[in-house]
Amino acid sequence: MTQQPPENDELKGRLDFALAASAEAAELIMKHYQSQDLQVESKGDASPVTIADRGAEELLRERIAERYPDDGVLGEEFDETPSQSGWRWILDPIDGTKSFIHGVPLFGTLVGLEKDDKCEVGVCRFPALNEVVYAASGGGAWWQIGSAKPQPARVSSVSSLGDACFCTTTVTGWDDVSAGDLFDRFSREAKLTRGWGDCYGHMLVATGRAEFMVDPKLNPWDAAALVPIVQEAGGHFVDWNGQPTIYSGNGLSVNANLRQNVLDRLHGN
Ligand code: IPD
Ligand code: CA
Ligand code: CA
Repeated sequence: MTQQPPENDELKGRLDFALAASAEAAELIMKHYQSQDLQVESKGDASPVTIADRGAEELLRERIAERYPDDGVLGEEFDETPSQSGWRWILDPIDGTKSFIHGVPLFGTLVGLEKDDKCEVGVCRFPALNEVVYAASGGGAWWQIGSAKPQPARVSSVSSLGDACFCTTTVTGWDDVSAGDLFDRFSREAKLTRGWGDCYGHMLVATGRAEFMVDPKLNPWDAAALVPIVQEAGGHFVDWNGQPTIYSGNGLSVNANLRQNVLDRLHGN
């Protein structure tokens, strides 16, 4: 059972469903984690994919089709299923495939849910860490380690860049969008810069262990699950213009006190 569920029973039911389905996906993924036989294929955009990525998304889609047959599904590995209900699931079966392939445990399974274009539910499960961070609008954000009692996920109150931990996925991503100078500036001004990347970096912000995570290149499935989690944790997930959207191609998670400061610097101020 989730702790302190939102009043809205529909959202609570869907959050519980997402938690259960992502746990099944995590089990499947762990059968391939650190396997000597793991085959890595390259997709059209040159990004890697494995049997675990595809298998986990297929499993999630099967569970959604059984329980919510009229819902839409947008996922990284397969074609979109249009929604007939106004609800749309947004899936990234393994966010951090490069970590997964390298046997590093900082990858997550992302299950997001939109209702009429608003992200209402998010689950970010870390199969190799046995941790999950989740939220539904109005119900708070929660962090569960193993089978321990879930604890509230809260962003930090750090308000100065000089005291902040800055995370990102890769430096080359900044160069790809001609923003290498911004990366350099954040690195110089932040107290600590680390490549704790992909969804793990965003969840460090949501759980108050880092202050801001910036990603220059994001797809909707990289971001949908993060939105309700970071917001319910008291922070912000926004694009580089400060808009709360998952469709701009970039994004950042930031605590409330540093939001404006980070956005100002992204605009060269
Ligand atoms: C990647 C991560 C990364 C982002 C890349 C994505 P993947 O996802 O979300 O943070 O910068 O653009 O492709 O491929 O590991 O699911
Ligand atoms: Ca991803
Ligand atoms: Ca992925």
